[in-house]
Amino acid sequence: MYSLHKKTEKNAILLLVGTLIVVSIGGLVEIVPLFFIDSTIEKVSGMRPYTPLELAGRNIYVREGCYLCHSQMIRPFRDEVERYGHYSLAAESMYDHPFQWGSKRTGPDLARVGGRYSNEWHVAHLKHPQDVVPESVMPSYGFLSEKEIDGADISAHLKTLRMVGVPYTDDQIAHATEDFKAQGTADADTGNLLSRYAKVPTGDFDGQPDKLTEMDALIAYMQMLGTLVDFSVYEPQER
Ligand code: HEC
Repeated sequence: MYSLHKKTEKNAILLLVGTLIVVSIGGLVEIVPLFFIDSTIEKVSGMRPYTPLELAGRNIYVREGCYLCHSQMIRPFRDEVERYGHYSLAAESMYDHPFQWGSKRTGPDLARVGGRYSNEWHVAHLKHPQDVVPESVMPSYGFLSEKEIDGADISAHLKTLRMVGVPYTDDQIAHATEDFKAQGTADADTGNLLSRYAKVPTGDFDGQPDKLTEMDALIAYMQMLGTLVDFSVYEPQER
């Protein structure tokens, strides 16, 4: 045994081949079982792709690097579940490209922040976090309420996401800009939007009814986070 070891250590090719064999066995043991379970993502009811306005808000969230301080994944530990709500399910981020699980929490997890605060609270907080949480170290994002958006290019975003597997319908893609405006405008006719997407927060989000801004989009996104799955009726799948 010892002499075999000595031989392998002195022969680079032999060592390489040996290493490859060991790593392959390890890899197979990890990967093969995945082909035998029905699905790695448990199916849950309620999940839908983001609406055009939420998607624009999500793009702003990514652009501004909110994920550097905020995670969007509640782990199944008691302290997290008591603070943030039901632990995150894989299905809840199945339409996320890229996902926002995050690895750092300078601020709290945002996976279920939807509905926790009013729109006014979000506006005040984004403009100057210290006005609502005096000890906050979060930077201010007030400029978002000055940047107007019209959703002219949003259908291209939906189309791109469809290419990577998000099930947007032709109807949703064709009416993306219309849905975008309907969601963020006070007193708009939201009938068509609501027939295309379930559980959609609508109205004027940023407190400026006369214009649609990046602040509207970001808050629309915040307000739906973690609200799609109804946990009062959810039961984990038996394995
Ligand atoms: C430098 C780190 C940092 C960045 C970047 C940051 N935040 Fe925060 N955020 C915090 C901290 C710290 C808190 C907790 C104190 C507070 O509420 O302000 C917080 C709190 C929040 C809350 C309230 C959460 C709760 O459950 O009370 C929301 C919502 C939020 N941030 C959204 C955002 C968004 C959206 C962005 C990007 C536009 C962002 N944050 C960027 C640090 C950050």
